[in-house]
Amino acid sequence: MSAGAVGLDSGDITVRDLLSSLTALNVLSMVMTDSSDDDAILDLAVSALPSLSRHCRAEAVWLDGAWQSVDCLRGRVGPRAGLEADVANVGPAGGPVRRREPGWAWAFPLSSHGGASGYLVVGAPEQPPEHERSLISALAHQTGVALANARLLTRERTIGARFADEQATLRRVATLVARAAPPEEVFAAVAAEAGRLLDADFAVMSRYEQHGTATVVGSWGASGGHQPLPPGTRLEHGDSSLHALVFARDRPVRIEDYGDTEGLGANIARQWGVRAVVGVPIHIESRLWGVIGVASRWGETLPLGTDTWLAGFTELVAAAIANAEAQAALAASRARIIAAADTARHRIERDIHDGAQQRLVSVVLELRAAKGAVPPDAPELAAELERLAEGLGAALDELREVAHGIHPAALAEGGLAPALMGLARRSAVPVRLDVRIDKRLPEQIELAAYYVVGEALTNAAKHADASSVDVTVVAGGGIVRVRVRDDGRGGADVSRGSGLVGLKDRVETLGGRISLASPPGAGTTVEIALPLTG
Ligand SMILES: Nc1ncnc2c1ncn2[C@@H]1O[C@H](COP(=O)(O)OP(=O)(O)O)[C@@H](O)[C@H]1O
Ligand SMILES: [Mg+2]
Repeated sequence: MSAGAVGLDSGDITVRDLLSSLTALNVLSMVMTDSSDDDAILDLAVSALPSLSRHCRAEAVWLDGAWQSVDCLRGRVGPRAGLEADVANVGPAGGPVRRREPGWAWAFPLSSHGGASGYLVVGAPEQPPEHERSLISALAHQTGVALANARLLTRERTIGARFADEQATLRRVATLVARAAPPEEVFAAVAAEAGRLLDADFAVMSRYEQHGTATVVGSWGASGGHQPLPPGTRLEHGDSSLHALVFARDRPVRIEDYGDTEGLGANIARQWGVRAVVGVPIHIESRLWGVIGVASRWGETLPLGTDTWLAGFTELVAAAIANAEAQAALAASRARIIAAADTARHRIERDIHDGAQQRLVSVVLELRAAKGAVPPDAPELAAELERLAEGLGAALDELREVAHGIHPAALAEGGLAPALMGLARRSAVPVRLDVRIDKRLPEQIELAAYYVVGEALTNAAKHADASSVDVTVVAGGGIVRVRVRDDGRGGADVSRGSGLVGLKDRVETLGGRISLASPPGAGTTVEIALPLTG
């Protein structure tokens, strides 16, 4: 070694050459480990080869069961069609493969641990010396390690990002439910979040009816919101599409090819260029409730594991869906109860008005007529009849009051302001009335405002021992506000009676809010705010 040269196999190699090759390999492995995608790593490997071997060149790269195209500074390494069988026969240690031109070609294994598996196919006019083959083998091994690392990192990053995203998603959905957003809004949000998180092109959520027909309840489209199945779309059982398959199997379903299947789903899929769809059942309280599906378009398939992820997501949002539904059902039943009560009150008022009231009026008239017919020599009888007629008239007035309290017919005729004046006039406690409304409001709003003032005035007389009551009604900014304040003893308690709690139901059914302030000894204020929209 005195001359600094060693004879090795067929080629001459200096220690300096070897050291520089090893240094190059070392540097390369560091650079590779920093790379984050397959292309960059393969590019580095192919580019580095000539600095490890004088004559060897990369001929092809086989990775994950396919030829890769590697474009690098030193030119392009393309697929080697026809070599697939050779590559399949090469074992994990690598081995010889055929070469286009005469010479030597070898498939060096890329390390298969951790996910990347394949070969770097290298060729040379003749077999290179052994130390060069070892260097190339090390390069291939290092390339595989770098590929596996990069993939692991990517996966971790997406899982991390998805996890963070998922948390944010659930918070958004939960917020919607917490503020009692209408179910349509919750369903639309769930579809949008699923589609967005899975990087899909469409997402559709449908609810099953009997026998597997379904109605779309929420949908989302990636590009400007366009999507083929808007909420309300009916999906029939005959459509051999996603919702029918999920219903029949009650487990996740993937469709990669609609072929020439018939039906709405399949037709829409073809028309919109859908490439793949994945749908999973939504279970609520272990009952099959509906299906949520995501779709990709134009040649992009959905990643494996989409169904697992979607199923997990669906489980998480099932509680939100159930909540939204329960809230909607509760609101609907509250509204039904109030509507039924209103109808009953109306009917009672009509019955009193058309029945008892009319009869009493005619009895009063008959009494007066009878009094007129009393002979002049029986003044006591006339006076008696007059007293009866007056008593009956007073009873009639009282009955009118009662009927009025049951259902304020005056409200429908004259509107809120005159009806409230009537209430104030009849109130046992003096009322200062300030109504700033110059037009008719929706019937339910007028009715609610009227009942609130009526109940509060009755309470002021019955419980408060008040000396005066202030009533204000204003409308503005799409909201009607009613405030009734008495100067009585305070201490009102919703849980002790039936009046205030009934008002709460009525007001909240209309999307409004009611508040009660009643500190002992400091009067009582009942205040409501009712939205004018909806
Ligand atoms: N303006 C008020 N001042 C004092 N106490 C009140 C007033 N309004 C209501 N209360 C008290 O709160 C309870 C609940 O009121 P409410 O729901 O209207 O029931 P009720 O059918 O007894 O009127 C009443 O029973 C009464 O004790
Ligand atoms: Mg009351």
